[in-house]
Amino acid sequence: MSEIIAIEGGHKLNGTVEISGAKNATVALIPAIILADSPVTIYGVPEISDVDALAVLLEELNCTVLRSHDSLIVDPSRMENVPLVSDAVDKLRASYYLMGALLGKCKKVVMKAPGGCFLGPRPIDLHIKGFEALGAKVEFVDGAHVITADRLVGAKIYLDFASVGATINILLAAVKAEGKTVIENAAKEPEIIDVVNLLTKMGAKIRGAGTDTITIEGVEHLKGCTHEIIPDRIEAGTFLIMAAAAGERVIIQNIIPQHLESLISKLKEMGVKMENVGDSIIVYGDNKNFNAVDVRTQVYPGFATDLQQPMTPLLLKASGRGKIIDTIYEKRVNHVPELARMGADIQVLGGQIVYNGPTQLSGAPVKASDLRAGAALV
Ligand code: UD1
Repeated sequence: MSEIIAIEGGHKLNGTVEISGAKNATVALIPAIILADSPVTIYGVPEISDVDALAVLLEELNCTVLRSHDSLIVDPSRMENVPLVSDAVDKLRASYYLMGALLGKCKKVVMKAPGGCFLGPRPIDLHIKGFEALGAKVEFVDGAHVITADRLVGAKIYLDFASVGATINILLAAVKAEGKTVIENAAKEPEIIDVVNLLTKMGAKIRGAGTDTITIEGVEHLKGCTHEIIPDRIEAGTFLIMAAAAGERVIIQNIIPQHLESLISKLKEMGVKMENVGDSIIVYGDNKNFNAVDVRTQVYPGFATDLQQPMTPLLLKASGRGKIIDTIYEKRVNHVPELARMGADIQVLGGQIVYNGPTQLSGAPVKASDLRAGAALV
């Protein structure tokens, strides 16, 4: 696979694009499957390397994985709990969802620390505290987490921060625990609801997904089912921004607009013309006199940190000064020096990104430090 993308600028974007299944849901749904005792089929699986790495990990666990087009069938009925220490663990951050799932299913996990994009410090202390609250012992031995429990017993767990990863990992560990688990200050992202929908079809008893209190009644067995993944709101948002910045008439299909309300209202504030037709949004590029706006990232339903970097080049087209504050990942600013290389008047000052537009960017060699920084530079 090439590591270089070459782009000739100055061409207007026109046409239709179909949004895939949500990456951040997919990477949690696939590990969740191992909790079932019979095959699970998932539709709308995006073609991304994270799915390849998770398929490798499931095969290491002796699950059968069948992929065709956008569907994935996993048979976990002959699963064997082996230590997960191969390179596939390093390929994505979300490999850590196998910790919660294996703990929930087998009460034992040995897994090395996960990889993933650098967005600043990404601790997993809240995941670990959650596992411990359910009765697990967590050790870190020779670069691997060793998590064991004689019994997993439901507990009340308050998250100091509404972490997406911790909420899902605790859910996965708790669905088969004895008794009731309550996660307070839980994250409310749509991907969490999607994971809960899959677990519920598998037979889990969960209430409150999408609110800040999720209650789980443990069950003994979970069964196979079929599930269709929600559309990727971050991919959709990235195309909305791209169409606003460089499009004439772009139709983006398979969108749930409610998942993108904070972005859509920012785009309207800037003066972007859009029309919602069914599950599509049409972006019209006839207004290019955008208003400068400030962006502050927050947990859902606030402005997504994953859209902060893709949003930055569009902001550079607006007239005036503005700032971007990422309250989730303050160090998620690696796109800033690269955009400056392309001619932007932008810098990081005291933990904020400060820009002054409009700027006509020009082509330059730039480096994509992480996934969404790459989208911003494209
Ligand atoms: C998920 C998304 C990622 C997105 C992020 C925030 C996936 C696979 N990734 O990442 O794309 O950018 O949500 O919306 O879904 N924190 C702790 N301790 C923990 C866990 C998190 O301090 O144990 C902090 C993090 O450092 C960060 C904040 O909480 O500052 C949010 O992290 P979290 O919501 O957990 O993000 P991820 O699940 O890693």
